[in-house]
Amino acid sequence: MNILILGSGGREHAFAWKIAQSKELQNLYIAPGNAGTANCGTNVDIDLNDFESIKNLVWQKDINLVLVGPEDPLVKGIHDYFLNDEVLKEIPVIGPKKDGAQLEGSKDFSKKFMLKHGVPTARYATFTKDNLQQGFDFIDTLEPPFVLKADGLAAGKGVLIIDDITEAKTELKNMLVDAKFGAASTKVVIEEFLKGIELSVFVLTDGKSYKILPAAKDYKRIGEGDMGLNTGGMGAVSPVPFADEAFIKKVEELVVIPTINGLNKDGIDYRGFIFIGLMNCNGEPSVIEYNCRMGDPETEVVIPRIKSDFIDLLQGVATQTLHEKNYETIDEIATTVVMVSGGYPESFEKGKEITELNNNFDSQVFHSGTKLVGDKVVTNGGRVFAITSFGKTIEEAVTKSFATADKIEYQGKYFRRDIGNDLKAYK
Ligand code: AMP
Ligand code: GLY
Repeated sequence: MNILILGSGGREHAFAWKIAQSKELQNLYIAPGNAGTANCGTNVDIDLNDFESIKNLVWQKDINLVLVGPEDPLVKGIHDYFLNDEVLKEIPVIGPKKDGAQLEGSKDFSKKFMLKHGVPTARYATFTKDNLQQGFDFIDTLEPPFVLKADGLAAGKGVLIIDDITEAKTELKNMLVDAKFGAASTKVVIEEFLKGIELSVFVLTDGKSYKILPAAKDYKRIGEGDMGLNTGGMGAVSPVPFADEAFIKKVEELVVIPTINGLNKDGIDYRGFIFIGLMNCNGEPSVIEYNCRMGDPETEVVIPRIKSDFIDLLQGVATQTLHEKNYETIDEIATTVVMVSGGYPESFEKGKEITELNNNFDSQVFHSGTKLVGDKVVTNGGRVFAITSFGKTIEEAVTKSFATADKIEYQGKYFRRDIGNDLKAYK
């Protein structure tokens, strides 16, 4: 089989690394990829939103399956583009069409969907600049902190959590009237703050049946102790000790099944990953958000824990035979520690030479923002690597990740040394 992966992050490197181990694979292409994916297949320098060039590549390289990593091309309709093209329509795309991608592309859509299909989530209301005053009134009915969400994609920055009521109202106005997040904040969802501990549950579906993949916990803030600005994710742990079998069963019954049934009822033929961001509120799951893709860095712990052939699972999605597939997991704990560029998530410099990469590490080094310049590997993004390790305990796994992160060198390197600390108390 010839496979094309779209994307260039740690998530795509983890996909590429796993797919490259499959006996089913003939040729693997990654567009645009990074210095790490170049070790698993062939990188092709194409912009993810240039569907025409992707079409030519699929045609020239006789690609049999396309796996879409990030949300952007899905929300922009890459799957629909394939289906509407005489040449491409038979080639399966793993990732939803535009309608399903709205689960991530519009917070208002996803909240309406949850309400309609009885999926537990925080109380909310949606506002535009035409009913700003009602937005202020709604804020008055809530307890702080106040959660304001730009409706559209805002590169992970569109959610504000604000303690002060006056500031919350000012920010609501900034979003709706002054387009703080551009077109993404034409609508704003305001919702109740959920108290609890967060985790991510991943579902792979062919539109009819589904598999729940290993759960993971992400560390979103830049600073240790969950302080400072939000990032794409600074580390992850899988499995999640507080998400035991009973809790996952609850998630399946209260969230996963109503979601899959809801998609069917609404005529949305969804083939791909559903990433469910959940709050565990005293043992009860409540959905914070859906994403129409896998998480990054969660993929870097979830995928390595899947023992079975990954192409086989993807083929199950492509041919709607997922119900016939089974997958096994590795029981050990996986942790990943994200190494970032100095300054991230604010401005940072790229192009720093990376050294000591060829050591024999006790970890799997997934590249995020790296690129090859001649025979050198240089930094090329805010998140540079995700260092994944296994252990019998979180402590054992994460200690290996830190040891590897300590060895790899580039100017401005930073990583959090407290990944998994909060979970060590759970046994
Ligand atoms: P989102 O972009 O929807 O994932 O939101 C970013 C982060 O904000 C989430 O990962 C949560 O940590 C937090 N968050 C979002 N919605 C809520 C909520 N209703 N209650 C508490 N925290 C929230
Ligand atoms: N790690 C969170 C995300 O991928 O959105």
